[in-house]
Amino acid sequence: MAMRKIYLDNSATTRVDDEVVGEMLPFFTEQFGNASSTHQWGQQAKQAIEEARNQVARLLNGTPNEITFVSGGTEADNLAIVGIAEAHGDKGRHIITSRIEHPAVLATCAHLEKEGWKVTYLPVYGEGIVRLDDLRKAMTDETVLITIMHSNNELGTLQPIREIGELVREQREAGRRHLYFHTDAVQSIGKVDVDVRELGVDLLSLTAHKFHGPKGIGVLYVRRGVRISPQTYGGHHERDRRAGTESVPLIAGIGKAAELARLHLAERSGHLRNLRDYLEQELFRIIPDITRNGDAERRLPSIANLNFDHVEGEGLQISLDLKGVAVSTGSACSSGSTEPSHVLVAIGLSQDTGHGSLRFSFGKDNTREDVDYVLETLPAIVGKLRSLSPRAVKKSKLEAGA
Ligand SMILES: Cc1ncc(COP(=O)(O)O)c(C=O)c1O
Repeated sequence: MAMRKIYLDNSATTRVDDEVVGEMLPFFTEQFGNASSTHQWGQQAKQAIEEARNQVARLLNGTPNEITFVSGGTEADNLAIVGIAEAHGDKGRHIITSRIEHPAVLATCAHLEKEGWKVTYLPVYGEGIVRLDDLRKAMTDETVLITIMHSNNELGTLQPIREIGELVREQREAGRRHLYFHTDAVQSIGKVDVDVRELGVDLLSLTAHKFHGPKGIGVLYVRRGVRISPQTYGGHHERDRRAGTESVPLIAGIGKAAELARLHLAERSGHLRNLRDYLEQELFRIIPDITRNGDAERRLPSIANLNFDHVEGEGLQISLDLKGVAVSTGSACSSGSTEPSHVLVAIGLSQDTGHGSLRFSFGKDNTREDVDYVLETLPAIVGKLRSLSPRAVKKSKLEAGA
């Protein structure tokens, strides 16, 4: 019997929707024009780009001229942060962010620190959520940018973006006119409603490959009237914000993916929540010593981040992989270490306790049978690894009075 293949790592990336692929294909072949050309090949390409711009604008409740196509979430975050810093650094040189941002934000802030900027990293406490009071206290006359993610990629925790938007509006009305607010909404698109007007954000990042679009294409939303410095120099593409010949197939793809995300939001979101809740409820019932990382309520419907005491996340992940199930761990393993990630450290997990964390992230194509398979396979894996774990053995001996 062929091994089952179950992909539960949709926060890392998603399968491109067949409809999206269909939308992209003609722009590799028959309609290969350069959108800057004035002949009909060029005009066809330009039209496709403008249609995609409309589709993304509709998804966010923005206007088409507020949409800039870039290469993905990383570039969108870089362009937002450095773009604001360079354009408005004469008004102040302070940025407020959080400890649990994606490296695309954290490393960009670290770069600016080397350039003499001051950066405040807000704490997130056990629940994995920033507090408005901390933000209020961190604000100074020097603050020009607040960059806080819409939802966290490891925990799924939703940050109080609307409340921060409100606070920024009040500050502006009180005279702080050079205060800008950026949010990285990469993980939220297609899972919860993201409406730039309602949120009160000035800039917002997203990337297509997290919502069934292609890799290598994203968007920076920039509210009308907000000035940013470009980070690439060249032609006048994207209203002088991002020079370089546009990737028409990828842009057509993100447009279609955005349209599908908008049309199917409620249904997909409900589906994800059902699967996630089913997995959590059953795992808590059948495996002892599991805890949830981050707030139980204020989070995306798609992510379950669970800590399994007395086991290493890596061991669990590898064993699940051998059974055909893809999940990810809460370790910063990209650096070759097994330290808990900066996000798990920020919510207070230590070297010892943060080790056994797994992130299950659901997508629209997952089924209840996928969860059933995990429920059948995981208890034995956890049991076996725990029986081999020196820490677990020590603990059970202690409990037995040995
Ligand atoms: C919150 C967040 N921001 C930014 C990114 C980077 O996006 P991209 O892979 O398109 O560069 C990711 C991707 O993992 C993410 O989860």
